Amino acid sequence: MRTPLIAGNWKMNGSLALVEDFGRALAEARLPRGVEVALMVPAPYLAAAVSTLAASEVAVGGQTLNDQPSGAFTGEVSGAMLVDVGARFVLVGHSERRTLFGEDDAAVLARVRAALGVGLIPVLCLGESLEEREAGRTEAVVLGQLAAVFDALSPDERSRLVIAYEPVWAIGTGRTATPEQAQAVHAAIRTRLADYAPALAEGLRVLYGGSMKAANAGELLAQPDIDGGLVGGASLKVDEFLAICQSAG
Ligand code: 13P
Repeated sequence: MRTPLIAGNWKMNGSLALVEDFGRALAEARLPRGVEVALMVPAPYLAAAVSTLAASEVAVGGQTLNDQPSGAFTGEVSGAMLVDVGARFVLVGHSERRTLFGEDDAAVLARVRAALGVGLIPVLCLGESLEEREAGRTEAVVLGQLAAVFDALSPDERSRLVIAYEPVWAIGTGRTATPEQAQAVHAAIRTRLADYAPALAEGLRVLYGGSMKAANAGELLAQPDIDGGLVGGASLKVDEFLAICQSAG
């Protein structure tokens, strides 16, 4: 049995006041048993989120990391720094990092390695653009992004990741993949994972992301190969986010 994970990705949004609102609400909320919840907040809010969320069982994660341990990389954040402030997860290869910040497959792999090296759980994001989907290349693109990382890792390293399938055309657009569209890609990912090892396919969580909200989370999370959600816009509203967490229970 895979433990469902609902992870909020605030992207470059939020404030200290919002961190405090979430801290209060999540400490009082009855989160469903057997569901793991995490919030990926902007780096300046990580330490506050860790201490504010300590009363709840909500984990905190970073949104990116540099692949180097330290050095003259102005503006960057290392994995060790994320660990230092209490983060447990880190997003790697989010489509916004790939397209806006030029992170290619090699950069994504280097960041996954850096995260694993310091004991963070990398949430590896995969997804096709609208153009790629319309050209019938969805599986080729997504499985190619997967292979670019997984082929290079050891069996033990592979078992320590979380995967998030986020079709780029569904991110921030209000246009969610249908449960059938999402399930088809999740199943393809899981079949590919089974080529590495059946236990890997059984154990790894594959989250769906892209305009997930309270109104559509239930039917997406009911799919057999969808093990949780990576939630952008709807993770900035505490009631909406809590409702998504409830539907994973
Ligand atoms: P939205 O939920 O805002 O579409 O964002 C999804 C996402 O990119 C989460 O990482």
